[in-house]
Amino acid sequence: MNHATDPHAAIYPGSFDPMTCGHLDVIERAAAIFDRVVVAVVVNPQKRDPLFTLDERETMIRAAIGELKNVEVTHFRGLLADFVRKVDATVIVKGLRVVADLEAEMSTALMNRSLSNVDTVFLPSDPRWSFVSSTLVKEVYNLGADVAEYVPPAVLHVMQSKRPAPR
Ligand code: PNS
Repeated sequence: MNHATDPHAAIYPGSFDPMTCGHLDVIERAAAIFDRVVVAVVVNPQKRDPLFTLDERETMIRAAIGELKNVEVTHFRGLLADFVRKVDATVIVKGLRVVADLEAEMSTALMNRSLSNVDTVFLPSDPRWSFVSSTLVKEVYNLGADVAEYVPPAVLHVMQSKRPAPR
């Protein structure tokens, strides 16, 4: 049982394909709330093949978080509920961009709690990033838009080196 003074380790799981400014905002805010934050990159995202390799996704996050001392970046495969126990996380953190996100996240949170006894805490997205998703960033970038506003500089750098934006 956790006592009020016991340290809380939060796990922030995701595909991060790629990390956006919205993800970075959630990490920074979680780092200010919890003693330790483990950013856990899923090896094989459920949705589709990732655009960025696991190594690229982890490297971009490490570069973007800079000097945040209580944040570590790692990856996992398989069940999040198993990995939560492996890293001794006491809470799962998820960002909510819009109310519709909550519908999908509710059942996931309840399943994860049922499997691991670890609860999920939702952080509302900063309104600046409520429309920003990895999927949209990739789509508009591929169609020639400037995405510098939506991703940390380290991510933009990797995106540009991987494939220069079309003119
Ligand atoms: O950034 P995403 O794609 O929304 O992250 C989804 C993620 C990685 C958090 C979710 O797909 C996940 O937890 N995958 C691990 C597999 C698992 O545990 N599935 C059951 C969830 S109840």
